[in-house]
This record gives sequence, C-alpha cells and structure tokens, in this order.
Amino acid sequence: MDMKQGHEKVGKHLDVIMNIATKRIRSVLKSPLALKTPQNKSLTEAIKKIDDVLYEIIEKRSNLDTQNDLLEVLMRARDEESNEGMSNQQLRDEAMTIFLAGHETTANALSWCLYLISQYPDKAKPLYEEVDRVLGKKRANYDSMKDLIYTQQIIWESMRLYPPAWVISRKAMNDVTIGHYKINKGETVMMSSYIMHRSEKYFSNADEFIPERFQNGKVQGVPEFVYFPFGGGPRVCIGNHFAIMEATLVLATLVKNYSFELVSDHHKVEAEPLITLRPKNGLRMVVKKRK
Ligand code: HEM
Repeated sequence: MDMKQGHEKVGKHLDVIMNIATKRIRSVLKSPLALKTPQNKSLTEAIKKIDDVLYEIIEKRSNLDTQNDLLEVLMRARDEESNEGMSNQQLRDEAMTIFLAGHETTANALSWCLYLISQYPDKAKPLYEEVDRVLGKKRANYDSMKDLIYTQQIIWESMRLYPPAWVISRKAMNDVTIGHYKINKGETVMMSSYIMHRSEKYFSNADEFIPERFQNGKVQGVPEFVYFPFGGGPRVCIGNHFAIMEATLVLATLVKNYSFELVSDHHKVEAEPLITLRPKNGLRMVVKKRK
C-alpha cells in the first residue's frame, strides 16, 4: 500500500472514527451503536473499512512465507495450554490495537517534534549536529539509540508540550477519597497529562520547548507521575519503549535527510484534543533535501 492508498483506505476512515468517538466520549447520552443514527452508521462503516484492510492483510499473509514482522509473530503464537493459534478475529483485534494505540500516537508525537524544531532553530541545530555526527552515511538502527541522546530529549520534551494521549480516565470501582476529593463508585476521573505537563509548579518556563531539561526521560526534581505521556501503574503503555525507539529512529532518519519549515502563510497552529492530540487542520511544511 503506498501513502496515497494508505490515506484513502485507512487515514480518512480513522479521521471519522476519531471525530465521532471524541463526540461520544464528551456526550452524556450515547446512543447504542445498534441504533442506526447517521453518526452511528458513519462510525460502523469507518470501522468496517479499516477491518477490511486488516483482514485482507491477514488473509494474504496466511498464504505467504516468512516476513519476520509482528503479524507473523502473532500468527505463530500458540496458547500454552491448548496449543491453538489466534483466530483471524483475534489477529484483527491485536492488529487494530497496535495500529490505533501505536501508530496514531507515535505519528502524532513525530508531527509535534517537526513542528517544534521548525519553531526553535536553536534547538534544531544541535539535533542536526547530533544526527550527522552519529549517523554519518549510516542508516539509523537500534545500536544508534545509545548515541542519539539529544534526539530522544527532543521527543520527551515534545511529548511534554503535546502529549499524544493527552487525557486518560478511570472509573471508580468503589467509593474512594483521594486528597480532598471524594469520588463515588461508578464515577469517572479524568487525568490530563497536557495540563500537568504545563504546570509552572513543576516545570520552569513550562510553555517553552527546552529539550535539555530531560535526562533519560526524566526531569530533575519532578515527582513521579507528574510527567506521564505513557500513563503509569499497571496499565502503563505496553509500547512505551518501542514507541521511543521508533520515534527516535524515524526522527533521526528524517532530519538526517531533510529540513522542515512551516509554509510562510501557515494557519495558526493549535492542538486539537480528540482522542489523541493532533495539530488542528494538519501541518503544512516545506521539506528540503539536506545534501
Ligand atoms: C508516542 C507513542 C505512544 C503514546 C504517547 C502512548 C500512550 C499511551 C497511554 C497514555 C496509555 C495508557 C492509557 C490509560 O492508562 O488509560 C497507553 C496504553 C497502551 N498502549 Fe500506548 N502509547 C504510545 C505508543 C504505543 C505503541 C507503539 C503501542 C504498541 C506497539 C502501544 C500500545 C498500547 C497498549 C496495548 C495500551 C493498553 C495497555 C493496557 O491497558 O494494559 N502504545 N499508551
């Protein structure tokens, strides 16, 4: 699938899902999906379109030899007790989770990185220097990670200002009091990384992009869970290390080859708080080959 096909087959349906799902999360009354309202119909259709793509990939793969990728690992996995493999439905569910939880969020983080480096040339400069020094003519790979320190700081700091999963929520199983707040059983509590990450109480010049403040994904003196782009506790993102690796290698590969600037007549860049925190109406950038 090329990029254009990718948008036609997946991207535009994902946009529909994001918009409708966000509306549903925000509304007090949600119509059951079985009710054929125009909105429910669009949502079900969009999910079906992405399902079709995933099922097609799964079906085709069943007839192919090894590709050495995650889908193959999932296909080869066997239940320890029954020795059974996953059904196509299970494979679809796993692929959809990785796709939505993993692809959209990381893509989102990378978009914000490119935006921020375009806005802070003094932070972009050491990034370009590091990538040129570490990679030279080589391709970025896992071994480059240990030397791409500033690149990782850029990613941590971008996710502080624009955390892709900007809010997470929990439903109270029982009545509970946390600090001064009494929460009744069944109530939902929302926790916003976006708000915490921009608190002056914890981050000096909180709205400024200062990658140097991060060392190994942490900011000195900031208590645990104030910075939580990947959530925390037992349901912490299972893909967090993978995401940092992927984002670092992709960002390094991009800046090794290209420079990025916003077009001169760009609309005001704003974050759009859907399920993820996308740049509203996208980013239009001039991409120039570096050498
Ligand atoms: C920059 C990229 C990513 C961000 C910002 C992100 C963020 C998050 C957050 C905040 C949660 C916790 C949700 C909650 O507590 O309710 C989460 C959970 C999860 N993430 Fe990620 N994620 C990213 C990449 C990935 C990747 C690459 C994968 C898979 C390959 C992934 C798979 C998951 C899964 C399966 C969960 C649910 C874990 C559970 O409930 O036990 N994520 N992610």
